[in-house]
Amino acid sequence: MTGSGPKKLYGGGMMNRRAVVTGASTGIGEATVRALRAQRWDVVGVARRAERLEALAEETGSAALACDLTDADAVEAMLAELARTGPVHALVQVAGGARGTDSVEGGSVEDWQWMYDANVLSTQRLVAGILPLLREAAAQSGHADMVFVTSTAAQIGYPGGGGYNAAKAAESMLVKVLRQELNGEPIRVVEIAPGMVHTEEFTLNRLGGDRVAAEAVYAGVEEPLLAQDVADVIAFALDAPRRVNLDLVTMRPVAQSAQHMLARGPLQVRTDVD
Ligand SMILES: NC(=O)c1ccc[n+]([C@@H]2O[C@H](COP(=O)([O-])OP(=O)(O)OC[C@H]3O[C@@H](n4cnc5c(N)ncnc54)[C@H](OP(=O)(O)O)[C@@H]3O)[C@@H](O)[C@H]2O)c1
Repeated sequence: MTGSGPKKLYGGGMMNRRAVVTGASTGIGEATVRALRAQRWDVVGVARRAERLEALAEETGSAALACDLTDADAVEAMLAELARTGPVHALVQVAGGARGTDSVEGGSVEDWQWMYDANVLSTQRLVAGILPLLREAAAQSGHADMVFVTSTAAQIGYPGGGGYNAAKAAESMLVKVLRQELNGEPIRVVEIAPGMVHTEEFTLNRLGGDRVAAEAVYAGVEEPLLAQDVADVIAFALDAPRRVNLDLVTMRPVAQSAQHMLARGPLQVRTDVD
């Protein structure tokens, strides 16, 4: 996918637009920082691990703001720093994750609480805090954007997915409501729902650090999505003409026809079809 070429106009001068990307220390968020920098965005990467954000900043020219998005005071301080350092034209909310694969009956309340905090309450807190900045930027430059990475787990439940299904479905519903509440304002609200993406940490964290079990999840799957694939779609959504709102993009690996249908082994053309 291609960028939109020349720098964009805002505030009366030719300058880059600025995006805040959460979850920027690894995986999809990190890839999104790279994709947006390649498309001439100014980018502020947000996550808890400052050293990883700083290394990325060094490499790509992004900025880094370490913040625990489940901590209201930390988010307030981060928003104040954003307000101090310039306009915010886009929020890309990637931070989140899964813990555990227990049944509903056997689920850990702590894991469910963590997933609700990380995926839903953090998103609400961030949206509420950043909207004034986005409105300010939209008033000056014509529009602003919010992109949320939910999941196909928001769309279809599966055994062992209960806590994550519930959290991602709640996040997805928040996004749908938000788009309607902002109707009439020049602010796009985009939802990207990926299926299986092979990132370094997502499954490892979900499975409590068990590397063997985490690798088994991807075993034999021909080409799971890569973080870069999701980042490219996010960058496309942000640089699409401002009249275009990609409400919901569901994207999966070819080997995953549905949430519960994962082909393992090489993809092969059928030869037994007349
Ligand atoms: N991988 C998949 O198969 C897949 C599929 C569909 C949807 N998704 C969703 O896509 C998003 C990213 O996935 P991923 O695979 O890139 O995940 P990941 O590699 O596990 O990265 C998660 C990111 O979220 C950040 N984060 C977590 N808790 C945070 C907190 N309290 N405050 C600030 N940052 C926090 C982490 O940074 P720190 O640890 O440095 O804070 C990290 O940068 C998640 O929302 C996930 O649910 C993933």
